[in-house]
Amino acid sequence: MSPPVDIHLNRRDLMAGTAAAALTASLPGALRAQTTAAPLPLPKGPTTTPVSFRINGAETAIEVDNRMTLLDALREGLQMTGTKKGCDHGQCGACTVMVNGRRINSCLTLACMHEGDEITSVEGIGQPDEMDPMQAAFVEHDGFQCGYCTPGQICSARAVLDEIRAGIPSHVTGDLTAPIAISDAEIRERMSGNICRCGAYANILAAITQVAEDQA
Ligand code: FES
Ligand code: FES
Repeated sequence: MSPPVDIHLNRRDLMAGTAAAALTASLPGALRAQTTAAPLPLPKGPTTTPVSFRINGAETAIEVDNRMTLLDALREGLQMTGTKKGCDHGQCGACTVMVNGRRINSCLTLACMHEGDEITSVEGIGQPDEMDPMQAAFVEHDGFQCGYCTPGQICSARAVLDEIRAGIPSHVTGDLTAPIAISDAEIRERMSGNICRCGAYANILAAITQVAEDQA
């Protein structure tokens, strides 16, 4: 005769076991099979990638973790901290840079995807002793308070004027057959992806408008 099985459970074990059994029983067949399958193997292969691009006109080559965003590659890998990390989720625009002439949120793109690209960050737009007209206009119009959003605002503002000149319509463009007129509504709409927690929007608008008028 086989020895008796010890079936003593404490109350916590019993409740946990009952809940798990009830949950498993309620799952569809395919899903139930998954819960008992062996864990998926980790992918094999290199976890870093060499990438070369031109940043602010300089040829640059770095080795990046495959999961590293362009924003982190700039800030952590290259110590170019002009580009700011606000939300890290594509919601604030603080990380805006230009890639091949188009503005993007650098927190939403992987660095390893930019082999051969031309990247411009705020450091490449101008320096304190040689400011771009947009930077000078932000200073003149007090287009910032804490300044954290400002690099992204300036990169976006530069791109906005290029987009208008190129005839790329926005959500508020009325006549799609005529050259796009610069207006407060056009600028506000196109800059709407750049959030300023300090609320310097009126002054940012004034700065961009002045540059647009000067360059008209
Ligand atoms: Fe990239 Fe906010 S940090 S959008
Ligand atoms: Fe402070 Fe824009 S100036 S967030």
